[in-house]
Amino acid sequence: MKNKMKSPLEYKKNTLHFDGQSLNLIAQKWQTPFYLYSKKTIEFYYNDFTLKAQEQGLDDILICYAIKANNNKDVLKLLRKLGSGADVVSGGELKLALKAGIHPSKIVFSGVGKTDEEIEMALKCHKNGIFSFNVESLEELADINRIAKKLNKVARVAFRLNPQVHAKTHRYIATGNKTHKFGILAEDILAGLKSKKYWSHSKLVGLSIHIGSQLTEMKATKEAIKELSDLALKINRPLEFLDLGGGLGIDYTEEERKELTSTAEYMKAIHEALDAFYYKKTDERPKIVFEPGRILVGKMGILISKVIRTKVSGGNHFTIIDAGMNDLIRPALYEAHHDIYPVMRKTKEISTDIVGPICESADCFGSAMKLPPMKNGDFVVIDNAGAYGHTMSSTYNERQRVKEVLL
Ligand code: LLP
Repeated sequence: MKNKMKSPLEYKKNTLHFDGQSLNLIAQKWQTPFYLYSKKTIEFYYNDFTLKAQEQGLDDILICYAIKANNNKDVLKLLRKLGSGADVVSGGELKLALKAGIHPSKIVFSGVGKTDEEIEMALKCHKNGIFSFNVESLEELADINRIAKKLNKVARVAFRLNPQVHAKTHRYIATGNKTHKFGILAEDILAGLKSKKYWSHSKLVGLSIHIGSQLTEMKATKEAIKELSDLALKINRPLEFLDLGGGLGIDYTEEERKELTSTAEYMKAIHEALDAFYYKKTDERPKIVFEPGRILVGKMGILISKVIRTKVSGGNHFTIIDAGMNDLIRPALYEAHHDIYPVMRKTKEISTDIVGPICESADCFGSAMKLPPMKNGDFVVIDNAGAYGHTMSSTYNERQRVKEVLL
């Protein structure tokens, strides 16, 4: 096992186990492929996140779990029980959060394309609406103000700052550059604050940032916190909270394992940056909001799949499995690496491409992987699939969306 972080997977006598239970037995219970989630691992990561914040003196925090990472209803209910709020990006996600019992006073709504209907739904879901609309443009703020006026309500809003930093991650999931569609530039926020037209039915309660996902180093995060702090000081009015977004990465690859920022190091970096750029310059102590997704659920999930057949062609060996890019799109979309393990370990290994049945060459989970030779019906596990696995799955090639099982 190559995991550096806590994982539910472990070999016992050459059989892969998940939270102590034999995967050979579990895999036979449901039709493959299916996702398997570990309740214990979610609990560990949620509690660890809170604990590591507290250890840095960050006591007044709100965790708004980013539902897009994994929106399974049992996962949401578990996180709600642990105390989590939610970061939602659509009316659908808002409904899921409310259905899981997450209180509107713990819900932030992000995203550049909130529709009138979605804004209305969020304003109406409680007499005080939601905790915050994290607004991504002045145009959106005008819409929120207009709709709040129609409903005779006051919308709680936070500006999402575009801090103009370059986060080191895959370019598809970096969100803090000046040219990105996300957030608002500081000068535009300051102009927006001066203009009365936005504020008849909106109230500024906070500021937010989110610079990208799968971040393994903290340089850009610290720079962004500096930009956020500078803006908060310039605005010079009491804010209920500063929302630092999500983004903390997990160890998918050897390189990420080497560089990885642990939750403790993440909280330390955040505290140091807040201290240097904000706390030292003001007596204000707003609540700190986090929107973690992947760090809470990435490690708790695996995708279990069965070998359909093997094939040798042009000198290449292929192991064809019944999971495809429609079930887990990360390798195809971001050329992301997911470790793959046979459920039954053998000493002999061959070099094989692990591919799915979808009619695209991108439907490949790993090239030239060193794995034992497998035969039809053998089970394999694709690791670290708890975040952005099932939520990004589709019915491409007219396949069913697969089952999720919480252990
Ligand atoms: N907050 C906002 C505003 C976000 O856009 C996101 C993720 C998060 C929080 C949570 O980020 P996390 O802690 O999970 O990194 N599909 C990609 C990741 C896309 C992330 C989108 N936004 C992947 O599979 O790597």
